[in-house]
Amino acid sequence: MERNDRNPSNGRNAVEVRGLVKHYGSTKALDGVDLDVREGTVLGVLGPNGAGKTTLVRCLSTLITPDAGHAVVAGYDVVKQPRQLRRTIGLTGQYASVDEKLSGRENLYMIGRLLDLPRKQAKARADELLERFSLTEAAKRACMQYSGGMRRRLDLAASMIGSPAVLYLDEPTTGLDPRTRNEVWDEVQRMVAEGATVLLTTQYMEEAEQLAKELTVIDRGRIIARGGVDELKAKVGGRTLQIRPSDPAELAAMARAIREAGLDGVAGAQAVPDEGLLYVPILSDEQLTAVIGLLGVRGFSLAHVSTALPSLDEVFLAITGDKAAHHSDQAPQEVAA
Ligand SMILES: Nc1ncnc2c1ncn2[C@@H]1O[C@H](COP(=O)(O)OP(=O)(O)OP(=O)(O)O)[C@@H](O)[C@H]1O
Ligand SMILES: [Mg+2]
Repeated sequence: MERNDRNPSNGRNAVEVRGLVKHYGSTKALDGVDLDVREGTVLGVLGPNGAGKTTLVRCLSTLITPDAGHAVVAGYDVVKQPRQLRRTIGLTGQYASVDEKLSGRENLYMIGRLLDLPRKQAKARADELLERFSLTEAAKRACMQYSGGMRRRLDLAASMIGSPAVLYLDEPTTGLDPRTRNEVWDEVQRMVAEGATVLLTTQYMEEAEQLAKELTVIDRGRIIARGGVDELKAKVGGRTLQIRPSDPAELAAMARAIREAGLDGVAGAQAVPDEGLLYVPILSDEQLTAVIGLLGVRGFSLAHVSTALPSLDEVFLAITGDKAAHHSDQAPQEVAA
């Protein structure tokens, strides 16, 4: 089984999941999931709608019981030690869960008290988190008057009240404006810097890239890829060769030369005059050499050449699109360290 051994934090696993299965009728929401999250790190769990992300988070937070397999979080078995486990985790669900009639401050205070914080401490913690999530002004208003983004922020604050060792964030910034999204990211990074472990599901590749070093891609209840951000990029999408000719007027002729040469596996070349660049998708070093060689032979003079990895969005589409097309009993794609 793959472990995140290359993780420099070198700590223990705060989350260990083995062969987790959860079926709803004939729907295999989780179909044998294995994953580890090292203590003090963020694991990003990516997957299309219905992949099983929320089901995974619900199993790991004792809200539902898995049909098979097992999971240990912060040393506690999710099935056998649910009460101890609940005291060490924080959860921000995909759907906000605040008491409508209470104010933001009362909601946070109540949760602090439920977590056994003394009154004074519960108040102080509530105020601190209201401040951090820019809710101080709205603190005394009933939550039914809050906007969607305010509720979400309150929900996040609520999951952080007890300074949990392990935090599950299920699509935490869906529907948030960019400024609030940044606040949430800052707060998550701060908690991780203080030693928390985070399991984050997200549909936003930018979020995954900002917060997580390690990624796991899940589809139809199965893990279909995992690795570091750059590893997944390198593995999946090839690269794009970016060529800047000495004379921008030659861009179109260069693109034509590459297209007409029929180099093995080089599908196309796109000239972007505004940028003075020629973009050529490539899959190997051989293709890179062939393209540059061809341009040299044809007498083009090059000012600059670089390669770029694909975006994580492109990677995600490539992995999930591909797997969804011929979904089978294939073993998960492990990305070598
Ligand atoms: N309570 C339930 N009863 C029946 N089917 C369910 C239930 N909860 C989830 N499912 C099904 O299990 C599968 C996984 O759902 P899940 O909510 O875990 O996906 P997800 O990855 O969180 O999706 P999204 O990105 O849309 O939030 C889906 O096919 C879903 O329809
Ligand atoms: Mg979900």
